Amino acid sequence: MNTVKATAGSIKKAAALIRAGGVVAFPTETVYGLGADGLNPVACARIFEIKGRPRFDPLILHECSAARARKLFSCVPAPALRLMKKFWPGPLTLVLPKAAAVPGIVTAGLKTVAVRVPGNRHALALIKAAGRPIAAPSANSFGRLSPTTAEHVSRQLGNGPDLILDGGKTDIGVESTIITFEKGRPVLLRPGGLPLEEIEKLTGPAARPGKTGGKSPLAPGCLKKHYAPKARLKIIEPGRAPRPSLRAAYLAFRRKPAGNWAAVKVLSRSGDLREAAAGLFGALHALEGAGVPLIYAEKVPMHGLGRAIMDRLKHGAA
Ligand code: TXA
Ligand code: MG
Repeated sequence: MNTVKATAGSIKKAAALIRAGGVVAFPTETVYGLGADGLNPVACARIFEIKGRPRFDPLILHECSAARARKLFSCVPAPALRLMKKFWPGPLTLVLPKAAAVPGIVTAGLKTVAVRVPGNRHALALIKAAGRPIAAPSANSFGRLSPTTAEHVSRQLGNGPDLILDGGKTDIGVESTIITFEKGRPVLLRPGGLPLEEIEKLTGPAARPGKTGGKSPLAPGCLKKHYAPKARLKIIEPGRAPRPSLRAAYLAFRRKPAGNWAAVKVLSRSGDLREAAAGLFGALHALEGAGVPLIYAEKVPMHGLGRAIMDRLKHGAA
């Protein structure tokens, strides 16, 4: 059994696990989250593995104060600042341009990051003790109901998390409301625990899912811009490199290809899919930075996080 009651002692242990790259399920006021060190890409990759997510969805970073949370954004428009002051801690997630320190796996390659300060004393104590933002999606298996008790978590994820902190039933039971801003205007990305009316009192009317028409992002599901490099991505069998060319870049799984390429990245010399997943977005960005029209990407094994990596590569190659 990896479920323990949330106490000062177990929270201290959970924080140490997080700092060491572990994954801990913890209560928030909305639903239970599956948390890892939000600045450690390999630890974040484990979250996707445990959830069995077929691809990398962007994660929410959880902080213990609005002052600390703000540092995860590179800029904050005035109405967003008003929302933070009024509703944090609470069931509101803000999506704004990310600070440089936020790893690519957290945002799934997007330039924005989702951040919130949860209104749950165990969650706040955990984040504070960990001393860093905690990245966490809801602690359910992919495609299943969100967990509002520690038992829901253990039923779905079993011994996947290193520890499950039991803080009783969550207060709110639905996920946070997600808001972004476009040219200073609020856009509702996901209705949730904080009523839209409360938000609009401070920001004026928000664009709503289904009502923005054409170009604005709607629900998060519609918003997910899949990572597609500017260069053409071509998926190849490992070790079956075409003729080396200085007009192409190469993304290898385990071994450097022979010959001279414009740029080469190796995802994991030991063949560790978790390490490969954690570094994938960074590697693609670097290869794209070489400014060539073509990137060859080797296939990776289709198990564990390999599926998520292949899904992402296929999106890029489409
Ligand atoms: O209440 C909650 O928000 C819970 C607790 C654990 O905090 N978390 C949660 O996380 O619901 P998750 O991963 O199940 O849902 C987060 C949603 C996803 O739909 C994701 O696509 C969206 O937030 N999201 C995250 N970052 C985003 C970004 N940069 N732009 C747009 N959507 C984003
Ligand atoms: Mg979820």
